[in-house]
This record gives sequence, C-alpha cells and structure tokens, in this order.
Amino acid sequence: MAEKGNPRIVLGVTGSIAAFRAADLASAMVQEGWEVHAILTPDGARFITPLTLAALTHRPVHTSLWEEGEGGRMTHLDLAGAADVVVVAPASADCLARAAHGMAGDVLGAVLLATRAPILFVPAMNSHMWQHPATQANVEILKSRGARWVGPSEGRLACGVEGPGRMASIPEVLKTLSGLLKKGQSRRKQP
Ligand SMILES: Cc1cc2nc3c(=O)[nH]c(=O)nc-3n(C[C@H](O)[C@H](O)[C@H](O)COP(=O)(O)O)c2cc1C
Repeated sequence: MAEKGNPRIVLGVTGSIAAFRAADLASAMVQEGWEVHAILTPDGARFITPLTLAALTHRPVHTSLWEEGEGGRMTHLDLAGAADVVVVAPASADCLARAAHGMAGDVLGAVLLATRAPILFVPAMNSHMWQHPATQANVEILKSRGARWVGPSEGRLACGVEGPGRMASIPEVLKTLSGLLKKGQSRRKQP
C-alpha cells in the first residue's frame, strides 16, 4: 500500500461542521510529501465528499468496513499496520466516545483499535458538547492510553457560540504531526 520512504498518515474525517477543513489539511499533508490515506465516516460524508479527499490525496478514500480489499486483504488492518500516525481531524464527540470505548463498528473505529501507531485527535464541536462531562471523561480515557491532542481552540463557533470547540489550525496540526514523525514515535509504540 505504501511507497517506500514517505511518511504514511491515515487521516480520519468525521461528521463535524469543520469537516471541510480536512480538505485543506489533506492537501497540506500531501504538499509535505506525506502519503495520506483518508477514511471518511458515513456522517463525515454528509459534510464533505469522498471525491474531494480522493482528488487531494490521489488515493481512494475508505468509507466502509465492508469494502473488498485488494486480493481479499482486510483494508482496516492494512491501514492500521501501515500508518506512521493516525490523525482524526476533525474528531466529533461521537467518534471520541466510540474510540474511548473501543467500538470498531466502522472502518475508522477498527483502525483506531488495530493500530499501534500514535493517534492524534483534533476535536471540533460545540462548546457545550466539548465541556460535557461525558466528552471530558472520554478524552481522559483516550489520553490515559497515550492519544495525543491538538486543540480545540477558543473562538466563535459555526453555531454562533463563543468558547472552546474550534478545530485547531492546519499549521498547528502539521507541526504536531511533524513532531510525532520526527521523534520516531512513529510505529508500534502505542499500547
Ligand atoms: C449540521 C450539523 C453539524 C454538526 N457538527 C458537529 C460538530 O462540529 N462536532 C460534533 O462532534 N458533532 C457535530 N454534529 C453531530 C455529528 O454529526 C453526529 O454526532 C454524528 O453522528 C457523528 O458521526 P461520526 O463521528 O461517525 O462522523 C453535527 C451535526 C449536524 C447535523
């Protein structure tokens, strides 16, 4: 699945209003020379099309756990095993809840469970959703297992509320990803 030498990033995109920003992120990562393999959740696909991400990453986009892998291979395990970093941007509240509880009913959840690469969450949601004890408990669970975070930042949200919940900027996400790749925290370090 990979061309040798290039960092391989699996980009999970979920159903947040910030999903359109994943297009800029994908493009910026490709410009870094990274191989980007995008996963779009079914609700993510209500906000941005697989075609957009495929055109920007020059690769097919994975939207279903049930797609037939080449030669009968299991795509979620290939993605999980080949990733140097898995980044979920934007990460919805629901995706964080599923990940915290090890749910693998979609391709992104299955990759998050199966990978041993570092996982970076870039949350984006309404402030109340972010501050809710349920979300914060999920964040703590994921942090305790070694997941990394960028954001959310504060500001005016799409819903009109001022507060935390904005997706971090693309340069911030790139900087964190570069750091993870450089540190050589790249593969098979996560419990
Ligand atoms: C217009 C609209 C905007 C939404 N924006 C967000 C958001 O920014 N963050 C979030 O966590 N959920 C948001 N949601 C709710 C999620 O789309 C919903 O929880 C969904 O099931 C997430 O699915 P996924 O995590 O599988 O992609 C939004 C829903 C709608 C209808």
